[in-house]
Amino acid sequence: MDTKVWKVDKYVDKLESNPQVVDAADFLQENEVVAMPTETVYGLAGNAENDEAVAKIFAAKGRPGDNPLIIHIADRGQLDGFVAEVPETASDLMDAFWPGPLTIIFKKKDGVLSEKATAGLETVAVRMPDHPIALALLRVSGLPIAAPSANSSGKPSPTTAGHVLDDLAGKIAGVVDGGPTGVGVESTVVDCTEGVPVILRPGGVTREQLEAVVGEVRVDPALAGEGSRPKSPGMKYTHYAPNAPLYLVSGSREFLQGLVAEKRVEGLRVGVLATEESAEFYDADLVLACGKRAELETVAAALYDVLRKFNAHGVDVIFSEMFPVDGVGHAIMNRLQKAAGNKIMVE
Ligand code: TXA
Ligand code: MG
Repeated sequence: MDTKVWKVDKYVDKLESNPQVVDAADFLQENEVVAMPTETVYGLAGNAENDEAVAKIFAAKGRPGDNPLIIHIADRGQLDGFVAEVPETASDLMDAFWPGPLTIIFKKKDGVLSEKATAGLETVAVRMPDHPIALALLRVSGLPIAAPSANSSGKPSPTTAGHVLDDLAGKIAGVVDGGPTGVGVESTVVDCTEGVPVILRPGGVTREQLEAVVGEVRVDPALAGEGSRPKSPGMKYTHYAPNAPLYLVSGSREFLQGLVAEKRVEGLRVGVLATEESAEFYDADLVLACGKRAELETVAAALYDVLRKFNAHGVDVIFSEMFPVDGVGHAIMNRLQKAAGNKIMVE
């Protein structure tokens, strides 16, 4: 299959009548799948009401069928179509964070969405993305859009159209190239179906921000480590992994440099995931600065691109600095721990 590339400037007016956007929306209406930028990562969009479109999403990504998709909407009125009830906490969270990087789990109204999109669950995950191109595609197509991250299953999520093409060229109808995404990590997934909201996946909206709106918010115990089964099916899979083994390093720069030196003696090519503050300290085959430690938002924005760059340079092993788990650091460390398969070296 030929994969079309529609280049669209997200800052232009009247995106809804932009010919590139209209063409991409036509493909969505014809139940083809196209990648689109959102404020978090690129999503692989398809008509959430159509089994065939949803099957194409799973096939292109190589995604396990038991991992449900997030449904994207442009207008809160669309919720009535497929959500059974909107609790007050959810309503308050939507007021505060939509459009934005927050996905809310609701009880589902049956018979509207493709059962494949929700993996047969009685709940449905919904979000309103804060990106002018995504919103224009949603409005022009007039559809609820199922969209997982537009990467091959297991790979780091895509934050540029180039990342999407690296994984999915030839497997999808097209990609709307709206430039790099902003937040860089996926949306926060919060379950509002049972009283106190529970974070199932940390993301672009922090626990602190949620608590400022609705009071107590819990974190799914499965996020803390092994043992219990995560409530968000996607959280049980290995994810974001670069090709080379990745180790998180808890300790000083000197300790990390010592680990690098040991591997180089063995003849291995070693990569280091550092920050702008620390990069010049290390001596390794490839040292990449992943944003500024003093501004964790910049680390989130750079993370997936940096993980992909290690693949492009073919290192044999990677050592990464760790980050505080406050604010967006919670999402950064969650993704790094998954990418590392929980391998941590402690000084
Ligand atoms: O920022 C994002 O959320 C991006 C952009 C494209 O919107 N999308 C994204 O989708 O990250 P995906 O499919 O890569 O991750 C969706 C997560 C998975 O962990 C999935 O298991 C969970 O949401 N999820 C979906 N429906 C659920 C449900 N009904 N209950 C619990 N978890 C659910
Ligand atoms: Mg994903």
